[in-house]
Amino acid sequence: MKTSNARRTVFACHECGNQSTKWLGRCPECGNWNSYLEEQTRSEPAGQAAAARRLNLKPAQALPLAQVRFAQTNRLRLAMRELNQVLGGGIVPGSLVLVGGDPGIGKSTLLLQLASEVAATFGQVLYVSGEESVQQLKLRAQRLGVEGDRLMVLAENDLDAIIEQLESSRPMLAVIDSIQTVFLGGVTSAPGSVSQVRECAGRLMVLAKSSHVPIFLVGHVNKEGAIAGPRVLEHVVDTVLYLEGERHQSFRILRSQKNRFGSTDEIGVFEMRDSGMHEVNDPSRAFLQDRSLSQVGNVVHVALEGSRPLLVELQSLTTPSRFGAPRRSVNGIDLNRLHMLVAVLERRAHLNLGEEDVFVNVAGGVRLTEPAADLAVALAMASSVADRALPKGTIAMGEVGLAGEIRPVTGVPRRLAEAARLGFGKAAGIQI
Ligand SMILES: Nc1ncnc2c1ncn2[C@@H]1O[C@H](COP(=O)(O)OP(=O)(O)OP(=O)(O)O)[C@@H](O)[C@H]1O
Ligand SMILES: [Mg+2]
Ligand SMILES: [Zn+2]
Repeated sequence: MKTSNARRTVFACHECGNQSTKWLGRCPECGNWNSYLEEQTRSEPAGQAAAARRLNLKPAQALPLAQVRFAQTNRLRLAMRELNQVLGGGIVPGSLVLVGGDPGIGKSTLLLQLASEVAATFGQVLYVSGEESVQQLKLRAQRLGVEGDRLMVLAENDLDAIIEQLESSRPMLAVIDSIQTVFLGGVTSAPGSVSQVRECAGRLMVLAKSSHVPIFLVGHVNKEGAIAGPRVLEHVVDTVLYLEGERHQSFRILRSQKNRFGSTDEIGVFEMRDSGMHEVNDPSRAFLQDRSLSQVGNVVHVALEGSRPLLVELQSLTTPSRFGAPRRSVNGIDLNRLHMLVAVLERRAHLNLGEEDVFVNVAGGVRLTEPAADLAVALAMASSVADRALPKGTIAMGEVGLAGEIRPVTGVPRRLAEAARLGFGKAAGIQI
């Protein structure tokens, strides 16, 4: 390519990374509005092959599938069971893992704890911080009670320098906190822009694969769109984990969104305390801890997150609307799903919700994505409207159809066993 230093202006969608030569109001790829930002790039050959050429790697050789060695035992198994499970049984050498989440949710905390565990058990770990000084890292480490000679910290933003350090030290694990704060000198756009983030991640992917060093990247979620969202990276990396939770509540859920080395939809549950992230090994019990047994508007549901059944409490409050358009507000479930359930209750169960404000909340900051939660949501609203509590010890699970029918859900035996373990003896909506 002769044009390698020619500057050109492109517009890139900060949500999905789609590029265009002109500004677009709506991204044709992901459908987001106003997601296009202008970027200056040099038209260098992009992608992993080019990155590999820059790293002077030999091209890979084809070989018979039968000769490919795959050792499951190579995984770095962690004592942090929740994290281990979400990763599919430990850290895979050479994998590139993205950990995304809202600001302040605890990403750096979790990864510093992970780094310290790997350093203590397996060997040297390199923790690179692009946003905090080594003194700040030390302060956090002291607060978390983390130390160790094998945990190396580096405050650096220049990816070339980071890669140099990684290649010379070949640690057991590297953490880059965060991908939006590192940059490559060869790419002219600003750190955090789509081109930078994608190029940097591409380089790290090549490095991880060639050196077998597993690399964890922190990625900020930014709804305002000033920086490239982690969705730009989702295609590039092997595994995407999201740390979720309500900021004012202490539970944090680590969810695997994509995993080339394990099943997705696995979750890990943690509690955020001053001393760091603590595993919650019996989340059902923890989530129901402060439940107000059989109160009006409260229904216990058994969710199935990956292979794990989880008891959560749904709460609904309905109250006569003071303004023209009644409010529907949700926390932890999909708003469109609520609209559908309200319509079904109105038409099929003749509940009058048209002039009621409806609030639905999942206790503990859990987010439910399965339609299996429908019945619990509907019962919670019905309970609130009727001002009557459900019988004690009842759980609900079932998908609700538009005709008002209750459809079966998967994994009923596992869900029931978990409910029984916590003393729930009656189930609504079961069709086995
Ligand atoms: N003594 C403390 N000092 C600072 N933070 C504390 C303390 N105790 C608890 N925290 C919690 O740690 C959180 C910050 O966690 P952390 O830095 O790991 O988050 P993060 O996801 O990396 O954030 P960022 O997006 O800013 O990098 C704070 O929101 C706060 O709730
Ligand atoms: Mg951080
Ligand atoms: Zn897009």
